[in-house]
Amino acid sequence: MARKIAYSGVQPSGGLTIGNYLGAVSNFTKLENDYDCLFNVANMHAITVEQDPAELRRKNIETLAIFLAAGLSPEKSILFIQSDCPEHAELCWVLNSVTYMGELGRMTQFKDKSKKNEDNLNSALFTYPVLMAADILLYNTNLVPVGDDQRQHIEITRDIAIRFNNRYGETFVVPEALYSKEGARIMSLQNPDQKMSKSDEDENATIRMLDEPNVIIKKVKRAVTDSLAEINYSDEQAGLKNLFNIYGAFTGEKPEEIANRYSGQGYGVLKNDLGEVIVESLSPIRETYNKLMSDIPYLEKVAREGAEKASKIASKTIDKVYRKVGFR
Ligand code: TYM
Repeated sequence: MARKIAYSGVQPSGGLTIGNYLGAVSNFTKLENDYDCLFNVANMHAITVEQDPAELRRKNIETLAIFLAAGLSPEKSILFIQSDCPEHAELCWVLNSVTYMGELGRMTQFKDKSKKNEDNLNSALFTYPVLMAADILLYNTNLVPVGDDQRQHIEITRDIAIRFNNRYGETFVVPEALYSKEGARIMSLQNPDQKMSKSDEDENATIRMLDEPNVIIKKVKRAVTDSLAEINYSDEQAGLKNLFNIYGAFTGEKPEEIANRYSGQGYGVLKNDLGEVIVESLSPIRETYNKLMSDIPYLEKVAREGAEKASKIASKTIDKVYRKVGFR
């Protein structure tokens, strides 16, 4: 039987956070052996906010290096940079014609991002979910491993697929999302009501996958908790709860059980141990990343070969879609 297909994308940034890692990238590595996987650097999504071209060019490769450093293998998965496959833009255009302004206007990420980008409220920011649908649908994807913040985007992808199939006949596989248990929603260390975001201006709010050990330890120590001075795993203690979720996502333990273990101890002990857990998990990734970045031609080769493999699949979908809509 043919293996099922998993697909996901990550916007380019050298500063990927442990949110990106625990919510998405660490799950990619768990799928590699059982699924036919495609993972890409979603740089076409990135230009919905203004980017410095030289920096974006560098971040494309850096993000690919993070994929490899986190354990993804170009022999097992198709790893590529989105803009290297023109089919993403081609399918996006067709899907725009079956997507309604109303449904795009309801996307909370669009609403949030448009508040932050009032001086650059471009139409790509609005149609971003259609490009994401194109990404996913191009590859007959069954499963999309993502963080909780992508929930609405996966829903609209499903709606678009179903609508297209109804109008033009069976064409797309309707995909399902896969969320990680503890890692699907890692919150800011400074404001546990907000998700941890790579663009947060407060560096203490995020831990980055490539942060040095001393920086990680310092940021965990500074994490906002509360003044109850009592260890519980509860919504009332959102800061603490987030620390236990991070702890559990790294070690595979249940956060409630970790909280029980620390019961009666001070927050400082927990923070010390958590700092070490994170450092232990991320240090090998940082070291591998540094080695990979000293061989850019290798990374470029991985990107080139990945794009060739992805395009082979994507061009078949485009051919099918173009026939369905009457272009061919
Ligand atoms: P992006 O680049 O913002 O984030 C990459 C992945 O990390 C997850 N994530 C989190 N998970 C848990 N806690 C957090 N605080 C946290 N922050 C981010 C995201 O949910 C995502 O899985 N639109 C996507 C990229 C994309 C994509 C796709 C994903 C483009 N095309 C097709 C899946 C399928 C995005 O901006 O993710």
